[in-house]
Amino acid sequence: MSTPTLPNPGLGTFRLKGDTLKRVIHDALALGFRHIDTAQMYDNEQDVGAAIAESEMPREEIFLTTKVWHDRLAPASLKASVRESLEKLGTDYVDLLLIHWPSPDDAVPMADYLTALQEVQQAGQARHIGVSNFTIAQLDRALEILGPEALLTNQVEVHPFLQNHEVVAHCQARGLTVTGYMPLAVGKVLEDDTLNGIAEAHGVTPAQVALAWTRSRGVVSIPSSTRREHLAGNLAALDLTLGEDELEAIAGLDRGERIADPEFAPAWD
Ligand SMILES: NC(=O)c1ccc[n+]([C@@H]2O[C@H](COP(=O)([O-])OP(=O)(O)OC[C@H]3O[C@@H](n4cnc5c(N)ncnc54)[C@H](OP(=O)(O)O)[C@@H]3O)[C@@H](O)[C@H]2O)c1
Repeated sequence: MSTPTLPNPGLGTFRLKGDTLKRVIHDALALGFRHIDTAQMYDNEQDVGAAIAESEMPREEIFLTTKVWHDRLAPASLKASVRESLEKLGTDYVDLLLIHWPSPDDAVPMADYLTALQEVQQAGQARHIGVSNFTIAQLDRALEILGPEALLTNQVEVHPFLQNHEVVAHCQARGLTVTGYMPLAVGKVLEDDTLNGIAEAHGVTPAQVALAWTRSRGVVSIPSSTRREHLAGNLAALDLTLGEDELEAIAGLDRGERIADPEFAPAWD
């Protein structure tokens, strides 16, 4: 089987709700986004579903991802979580279903929740399955449990200030696509002198430079934006190719700056 591809970039939806989110989704679909990233924890699946329903876009043209929160990992709870997500999203399947965070301290054994995830896939409620915020060791355990080709992606934080080289390289070596979340470091890339300098040289924005750098690593990004011109710019960043010296300068920006680091996070690599 050839590896399915995640449309790049996807549209992040964390923190967005209601009419703002609906407008963002309408704009994003009209501009050409075909990949939407939500999660049960974002409490916006109903709005995502409504916006997709209101759009003229056939469901099968949209790559829709949702995630199961870490307090719903016991198998019966996981399956109920997925049923609730599908109902809110107004669809009978998602394209990608992720474990949002590994079970803290393995409170639910990994084999239990990954087997449940695979059963959801076998039942046709998820075309693909994957994980998020998994360390290298956790990913290896997951592949041991499910088999080497079971998971499409590990969605982890990746931006110029947290480049996550080891995790990205390991996932890619094991055949997974890496999805990079917070690719703009939640706006911090805009303030960086190096990124601004490269942006100026190309007549683009530092956000576009960050997304072009992410793509150059083979990582799919899922930036969020409330502004149509930013959404358009994030799509256009795909056309930007950076030079070797520019990529090297961005490599030098890594400072291990992790933004998403809740108390239940795993022991990061
Ligand atoms: N799996 C996980 O645990 C996890 C954790 C966190 C996030 N995520 C996913 O990753 C997505 C992205 O992360 P995020 O939304 O936190 O942060 P982000 O995408 O790095 O940054 C979003 C911020 O960047 C600004 N922005 C976007 N495009 C821009 C542009 N072209 N020019 C200037 N500013 C721009 C936005 O402001 P404007 O609205 O003004 O454009 C917004 O303030 C989330 O929405 C979510 O789907 C997953």
